[in-house]
Amino acid sequence: MDLSILAVAAEAFPLAKTGGLGDAVSGLCRSLHHPGRSCVTLMLPAYRDALARAGSLRECARFPDLAGGPATLLAGVAPSLGLPVLLLRNDALYDRDGVYGDAGGNEYPDNALRFAALAQAAARVARGSGGAPRPDIVHAHDWHAALIPVYLKQMRTHDVRTMLTLHNIAFQGIFSLSLARALGIQPEFCGGGAGRAEPLNFLEAGIRHADLISVVSRNYAREILTPAFGCGLESVLAVRAADTIAIANGIDMSIWDPQADEYLQGLNFGIDRMENKAACKRLLQESFGLAPDPRAAVLALGSRITGQKMADVAAQALPVALDGHPELQVCILGRGEKRLESALQALAQRYPGRCAVQIGFRESQAHLLHAGADILLHGSRFEPFGLTPLYAMRYGTIPIGSRVGGMADTIRDAGSAESLEPMREATGVLFEGDSAAEMAAAIARALALWRRPAIWRAMQRNAMRTDFGWARAAPQYLRAYRALCPAHLPGAPVPAPADRVREGKRPWRPGLREHADTAWTTP
Ligand code: ADP
Ligand code: GLC
Repeated sequence: MDLSILAVAAEAFPLAKTGGLGDAVSGLCRSLHHPGRSCVTLMLPAYRDALARAGSLRECARFPDLAGGPATLLAGVAPSLGLPVLLLRNDALYDRDGVYGDAGGNEYPDNALRFAALAQAAARVARGSGGAPRPDIVHAHDWHAALIPVYLKQMRTHDVRTMLTLHNIAFQGIFSLSLARALGIQPEFCGGGAGRAEPLNFLEAGIRHADLISVVSRNYAREILTPAFGCGLESVLAVRAADTIAIANGIDMSIWDPQADEYLQGLNFGIDRMENKAACKRLLQESFGLAPDPRAAVLALGSRITGQKMADVAAQALPVALDGHPELQVCILGRGEKRLESALQALAQRYPGRCAVQIGFRESQAHLLHAGADILLHGSRFEPFGLTPLYAMRYGTIPIGSRVGGMADTIRDAGSAESLEPMREATGVLFEGDSAAEMAAAIARALALWRRPAIWRAMQRNAMRTDFGWARAAPQYLRAYRALCPAHLPGAPVPAPADRVREGKRPWRPGLREHADTAWTTP
């Protein structure tokens, strides 16, 4: 019998995406969906764009009494994903341009209702009242879906197991406790304990009540147990440490592939035919209005323009780098905090032809950025996984990253300037700290490597060859799901999950944590 998984999230590319969550959710779901073995249904809010991109849908259920008002559930198979999808439709909540907020950067004031309704509806599907088949597992991603385990427990539905994946615990979904009643959350499930005057924290509730928690890199899983990275959740996470596993993300190797990338206007290239990388660089320079100099070292910064991504540090470090290295050009693509966007835009004014900034979210430009640049700058104060440096590597663009979170696991640092061996094995440059001086020094180190073509070429080859595909992560998720649902363990005695819970037994098997690993392979 197929293992059936209902994946619930706020984003899944290409239906909805504001960052790596969207890529990770759709990449994971696609890699797990193999009818005959495991089937994934993906559930999202019916945002305006998601409805337009999901293909033909039919109504499969009505929910007259969800948080935020009546909603309908639409079912179909999204052609772009090749996956069954469920979209929760309530136009008053979701028929908007943005996923979380408006174009001015303001969060929607009713996000508590918007995502509580998603979780309530998912719990009803899991219970069997959603007009869609009941899943064995509900896999909730981040705070937007984190209330699902709470609603299932409130409904006393224990035979569907829950897994919560933490993509970024800096975003928790914190709202006033006074909303609990409107969201249908019973007092004992609010915050740390009944009656405590703490805010309602969706993510914390999910961490407390999910059967299993997974974290998107091993290093981040360790970091979040410390006050420096735990965002106030470190004690709750410590309580659940025995039920927490780390499974490193993958990347969609078919979407981020320099040999087949549709956004490169035919200028595709590969590890043994790199000529078109130079052509992509020219295209990138043109599209950003940089001087079309083939000898320039083009450094790209493509990310959310936020404190997490050290945009403030970059605004100070980049002038130092541009002044110190005449061959350096910088192109920046992103959007985020207005104050930081302005600080970066001021750089473009100060270095015309050498520094250019595009504010906005454009998938095609992100691909061109990775294809055309020599170096990617990806400073982060914390980085749960960090897909962007891996995309850059696929295109032979060498990342400079902070030694935090997933980047510490995935980027192999070139080491000190004296020793050649680590350089030949490296895939990038890692730096510590968040000062402008530390970032500028890392840029200088990358440029010193770039000036040594043999070393640079070796690094590019290492980076382009590393297999970061989802094929590594998918079996680890499957093992975790099966351990949660003993009926799906091959050869296992088959107590129904509900019986195990009634008996007070652990619903999964010891040894689960051993499945997590992050050994990247470079053939
Ligand atoms: P995070 O999820 O923290 O933003 P990741 O590096 O894991 O970081 O993923 C970011 C994703 O968002 C990548 O797919 C990246 O290409 C994309 N992205 C970020 N900013 C932009 C932008 N301005 N335009 C297009 N894509 C962007
Ligand atoms: C989050 C994290 C990022 C991670 C992505 C996908 O947005 O900030 O580091 O790569 O989720 O898991």
